[in-house]
Amino acid sequence: MPLLFRYFFRYARATLQSRYNSGVRLRIREFEKPDLETLWRIDQACFDAQLAYSRTELALYMGRPGSFTLVAEAEGGEVSGNGKAPAAILGFIVAEIRRKSGHIITIDVVAEARRAGVGSALLGAAEEELLRAGAVAVALETPVNNAAAIRFYKQKGYFVEKTVAGYYSNHMDALVMTKELPRSLVR
Ligand SMILES: CC(C)(COP(=O)(O)OP(=O)(O)OC[C@H]1O[C@@H](n2cnc3c(N)ncnc32)[C@H](O)[C@@H]1OP(=O)(O)O)[C@@H](O)C(=O)NCCC(=O)NCCS
Repeated sequence: MPLLFRYFFRYARATLQSRYNSGVRLRIREFEKPDLETLWRIDQACFDAQLAYSRTELALYMGRPGSFTLVAEAEGGEVSGNGKAPAAILGFIVAEIRRKSGHIITIDVVAEARRAGVGSALLGAAEEELLRAGAVAVALETPVNNAAAIRFYKQKGYFVEKTVAGYYSNHMDALVMTKELPRSLVR
């Protein structure tokens, strides 16, 4: 297991345990092929039809050179007759690196698990991965009307760099937000 994930398991578990239902543990792991359908469904639920990715688009973004996907899952806390409940996927992030620039393609957290630190854990893990891959900064686009995402990214140290008119299929403008990655993220 890469060092990053070993470190992050500890961080993420501690975070979610203190902020989510007691006994539920968060684990950040790399994407596996059987996750694709679940991730696509989460994306469909997170965005309206004009913004959500088709299965093909999502798979293409996830498969681009330099792209990686991390999944956040809750390990079942309750012990049933058959043992622990299966892990449930709470969210995911798709990011990529090109030369020294990181790019967040999407971050999606299921509605029931929001404001519990899942998005923070995913973004933090992706930033660490990008930093280790040599990125010095990260950029992303978000719809100008996505107040929750804008607040989230600002809280994570991202600044609005510019607005791109008609970025989303010509029907919605995007904010381009960027963040320089502090070298101290590397442990
Ligand atoms: C944006 C998103 C990823 C945030 O995930 P999350 O797990 O809820 O985020 P966290 O719990 O880690 O939030 C961290 C901080 O971000 C800010 N924040 C997150 N959601 C917020 C909201 N709805 N309103 C205001 N601030 C918010 C808060 O400062 C929060 O800290 P706090 O809960 O202690 O106040 C999630 O809302 C989501 O998946 N939305 C739908 C998909 C989407 O819009 N993705 C972004 C596409 S560009």
